[in-house]
Amino acid sequence: MDTEPAVTAGAPVRAGRPRLPEPLGGAFVRRPAGVLAEIRESGCPVARVRTPAGRPAWLVTRAEDVRAGFMDPRLSLSGGRTPDPGVRRRALDLTLVNYDPPDHTRIRRLATPALTPARMAAHRERIERAAAELLDAADAARGRGPIELMGAFARPFAFRSLCEVFDVPEEERAALYEPVALLADKTGRSAAEVDASVTRVDAFVRGEMARRSAAPGDDLVSRVLAAWQEQGGASEDEVASLLAMLLLAGFDSTVQAMGMSVVALLAHPQVQQRLSEEPERIPRAVDELLRWDTPGSFGTKRLALEDIRFGDTVIPAGSGVLLSVAAANHDPRCHADPGTLDPGRSTASRHLSFGLGPHYCPGSGLARLELTVALTRLLGRWHRLAPAVPLSQLAWGGGYLHRRLAALPVLPGGPA
Ligand code: HEM
Repeated sequence: MDTEPAVTAGAPVRAGRPRLPEPLGGAFVRRPAGVLAEIRESGCPVARVRTPAGRPAWLVTRAEDVRAGFMDPRLSLSGGRTPDPGVRRRALDLTLVNYDPPDHTRIRRLATPALTPARMAAHRERIERAAAELLDAADAARGRGPIELMGAFARPFAFRSLCEVFDVPEEERAALYEPVALLADKTGRSAAEVDASVTRVDAFVRGEMARRSAAPGDDLVSRVLAAWQEQGGASEDEVASLLAMLLLAGFDSTVQAMGMSVVALLAHPQVQQRLSEEPERIPRAVDELLRWDTPGSFGTKRLALEDIRFGDTVIPAGSGVLLSVAAANHDPRCHADPGTLDPGRSTASRHLSFGLGPHYCPGSGLARLELTVALTRLLGRWHRLAPAVPLSQLAWGGGYLHRRLAALPVLPGGPA
């Protein structure tokens, strides 16, 4: 959910201090499960490491500890700072993941009732239509060759789904896609481009707030504004940031979860075949696929406000803490035989890919809906999807906080 500030790599190691291990580099991004399993099953499942940006941090890897960490108010996202609602801010300068309760609670409650699974189900028909149209277009464009699934389907589908929920006018969608996609993947982008994109997203949400204040509808913005009008308790900038955060946090995480789910099914053709033959199993399988792999191997980095004990280890006050959802999702103490992809797994919904506690992902209902629709449509249309390149050659990018698959070439197998 976040990126790491200022690189201090290469800082000299102080004499007499052992160099901290650095397990979160390129090999981690390609294969996090192996690295995390090694730490989790070592005698030191709460490990002090150095991040690729050169900062020390503590990794928490056992499911029980990760769950406790998400619920512990002493692990702070604000770093103990209280935001001043009087200061004018651009959307995204301060967002939900920079606040702790009670400030976090007063803002977040404006959005959660608008994002329940029941509310999201009201958008299902249009989300289904988006999936069908994108698959029609991909089929028409491909001839007999492979399809690059991230570009042809995952990215446009996740974006269109968000546009449906926000009810973005058709004519504004293409212009909005640019800054959203750029902020989702800033690789190779200049600071000026990033800044300009934030300004465009800021202008978009404020424009929508004005439009929906004048003419409310059944969309997410109108519902958040109605809650704000009723409850108050937040500044205009905070509401703008909340909406911008929903738009941005809702995009790439779902794109990548779609890609990762398909990679898992390509690696497990029997599971894929079963889901293709019995699509009613897909909604439950979605949770197992989220357990299997997730774009965010860690929750947002937290700061220990006090000394905090996990088992035999005390994390000192002032330390950065990374709660590893990916390690917890494969902890055999929580999920039996975690290395088996089992679409009927009874513990699947205990995965932590959406986090836990006060910051639990408010978009989980929409994400589950999108994944269910995407997989049902993909497997319904193209039975027997096969990888067009060996899965070991897929290019994983992003970083240890948010892994990203740029391209996923697949060969559709045609009707069953
Ligand atoms: C499969 C897709 C998704 C995954 C894996 C995911 C994962 C997460 C996780 C792990 C957190 C908690 C971070 C923490 O506590 O450190 C989170 C928070 C958040 N997510 Fe998601 N998310 C997904 C989709 C979405 C969608 C579709 C939306 C919006 C519609 C969204 C909006 C948010 C927001 C606003 C937060 C911050 C909540 C807070 O701090 O209170 N996410 N997400």
